[in-house]
Amino acid sequence: MSEKILIVDDDIDSLKLIGLMLQRHGYEIMAANAGNQALSKAASDRPDLIILDVMMPDMDGYEVCRRLRANTETRGIPIIMFTAKTLVDDKVAGFEAGADDYLTKPTHPAELASRVKAILARSATQRRRDTRKGITIGVVGAKGGVGATTIALNMAASMFLTADNPIVADFRLGAGSMGLSLGLERSLGMATILGKPANEIRPNIIERELAVHPSGLRSLLSSPRPREAQLKYPIESALTLIAALRTMARYTIFDLGSRFDDSMSRIQREMDQLILVVEPFDVSLKMGREMMQELEAGSLGSGRTHIVVVNRTQSNAQTSWNEVEYILGQELRAIISAAPELAYQAAKAGTPIVMYQPGAIVSNQIVKLTEDVNTRIRSLAGGELTT
Ligand SMILES: Nc1ncnc2c1ncn2[C@@H]1O[C@H](COP(=O)(O)OP(=O)(O)OP(=O)(O)O)[C@@H](O)[C@H]1O
Ligand SMILES: [Mg+2]
Repeated sequence: MSEKILIVDDDIDSLKLIGLMLQRHGYEIMAANAGNQALSKAASDRPDLIILDVMMPDMDGYEVCRRLRANTETRGIPIIMFTAKTLVDDKVAGFEAGADDYLTKPTHPAELASRVKAILARSATQRRRDTRKGITIGVVGAKGGVGATTIALNMAASMFLTADNPIVADFRLGAGSMGLSLGLERSLGMATILGKPANEIRPNIIERELAVHPSGLRSLLSSPRPREAQLKYPIESALTLIAALRTMARYTIFDLGSRFDDSMSRIQREMDQLILVVEPFDVSLKMGREMMQELEAGSLGSGRTHIVVVNRTQSNAQTSWNEVEYILGQELRAIISAAPELAYQAAKAGTPIVMYQPGAIVSNQIVKLTEDVNTRIRSLAGGELTT
């Protein structure tokens, strides 16, 4: 199958010329003569490469570039900026907007062809690497105590039960309750790793810090000792840890809690999927709406945040699901029923709910949520991710 190239230029002659040149090299060509058209074609036709003019009337190439990068569906497409401008500043602006390469007009046909070929080859290698890379899922609470840890832990346990071997990681330094609900004593793993400089954080080092639940589920835990929350770690250490975990498990599920600051925002951006946990009450929903805005603003494109409602009690004061969707402006991915007794018993037994009572309604709901998120991940990967 020949590779598809989208050429974006407001100048029709230029479009035709480049189009013909590349067609001769066997590429399939699509064209757009304005920024908005480029964005919609890129999203619908998924070209393998975009050649982008800078000066266009409706939206300049830098803006198009930024928007392509901000959308999960198009962010991976390589972009060559193509323009008559030759100033160094323009090149810098192009790279800052997220371009992969830069060509100035007029260009020699042979140069254009060889740049295109090089970029396409590089991105094919990158794609192969990416599909081998594990997926990160972050769980965030709209506020404290809404059930974020329970969802993170039980989604990981659901994956474990379906023969995957995920890692669940607790990013709540000094407030780590996950280890307690797993009945695990060794909960200094996360602090130990984050306390190291980034260049020392490697899979074999992390491996040693994992706490393994009797079921076999692997975890990297935070301790419940308040003092641990004072640990100031460089953000590079957290990013290196996340990257390393991607090589150690096909899925890593992170409990990110409900705290929000610059480093948490940065960590959230590393997540391929985010689960926002809310309870169906006014205060929680309003806080959820604020958090949702942060998550979507920080994320490179929308569509990777899933809302999950956890009912911890039965109450008549609770908000109906369609009202919840209205307030949060997004469809709910799951509603988890109240099961206080079961939640209590499972924690006491040091076992995730879905393992403690696999047939229970809440267990089925969490297993289904995990499957739904998984389906979503696979469709985003364009079917390249195989089970
Ligand atoms: N579906 C449920 N029904 C009843 N109780 C639940 C349910 N899910 C979780 N719980 C209980 O609610 C409490 C809070 O849950 P959890 O610790 O997961 O919340 P959290 O958002 O992580 O809280 P924190 O902000 O303290 O980290 C726990 O005691 C848990 O066992
Ligand atoms: Mg928690």
